[in-house]
Amino acid sequence: MTHAVPAAQKPVTPAPAPGPASADSSRSLYGGKGTRRITVRDIAAAKERGEKWPMLTAYDAMTASVFDESGIPVLLVGDSMGNCHLGYDSTVPVTMDQMTMLSAAVVRGTSRAMVIGDLPFGSYQESPTQALRNATRLVKDAGVGAVKLEGGERSAHQIELLVQAGIPVMAHIGLTPQSVNAFGGYPVQGRGEEAAHQLLRDAKAVQDAGAFAVVLELVPAELAAEVTLSLNIPTVGIGAGPECDAQVLVWTDMAGMAGGMTGGRMPRFVKQYAQLREVLGGAAQAFAEDVVGGAYPAAEHSFH
Ligand code: KIV
Repeated sequence: MTHAVPAAQKPVTPAPAPGPASADSSRSLYGGKGTRRITVRDIAAAKERGEKWPMLTAYDAMTASVFDESGIPVLLVGDSMGNCHLGYDSTVPVTMDQMTMLSAAVVRGTSRAMVIGDLPFGSYQESPTQALRNATRLVKDAGVGAVKLEGGERSAHQIELLVQAGIPVMAHIGLTPQSVNAFGGYPVQGRGEEAAHQLLRDAKAVQDAGAFAVVLELVPAELAAEVTLSLNIPTVGIGAGPECDAQVLVWTDMAGMAGGMTGGRMPRFVKQYAQLREVLGGAAQAFAEDVVGGAYPAAEHSFH
């Protein structure tokens, strides 16, 4: 696979200015001007300004281009692709080949968003060297601007080596879905004094190791607020309340696409902004009825 071209491939439609007025909204992560890729420096500057920002997952070039044109500054090629794109019942089976192929597609479909590739289960836990080998593959072969990996204190050595090698790392603590078999499901994390202290230690450990941001998944809002106040790097919440610096959602949840693949269950923290599953299903049925009834193709769709 060739290295994806990071330069702008198409004009980006400027996103609307963000809600609250900021001193210099042209620099905003969401709604800011410019077509160059968002970098870790832009993200650090947003934390200093106290600017909140949105992040979505993406798994293909076309969907990623929609989000890029909408001004979403950071796109995660999450291993949630296992559930949302590849038909598995967890993130555990996702491979480096799958992650590399879909990350490259998302990079090709975007010109402004920072694209983050997720290191799948089994691709970094063995050793820092294994993590570096696989993260390097995502940077070189897919063209991602950063990688994400799960774990706090337990992943600190991996983060350190990647950062030393020049690869920006987003950490992920709280509920770490690759450990679904150890957790026995997807329970809220950080409840109780000892668990809360462990989460704070994990957050500090990934910051000290050099992570540029940290995802907090399924954590009580008060604890996420405490972590956010205690760190210099931004927190990215998912089911972690409103005080995080950024919020991420899995795009198929956010847009009401996931329906049948999740048995109709949606986590409580998800807000659905559209019902794409209904829209797409309706379009498929309308096409089918036109074909069966002979209304499609009509004269204007035919060649003579
Ligand atoms: O894989 C993923 O989509 C994630 C987000 C939920 C943070 O890890």
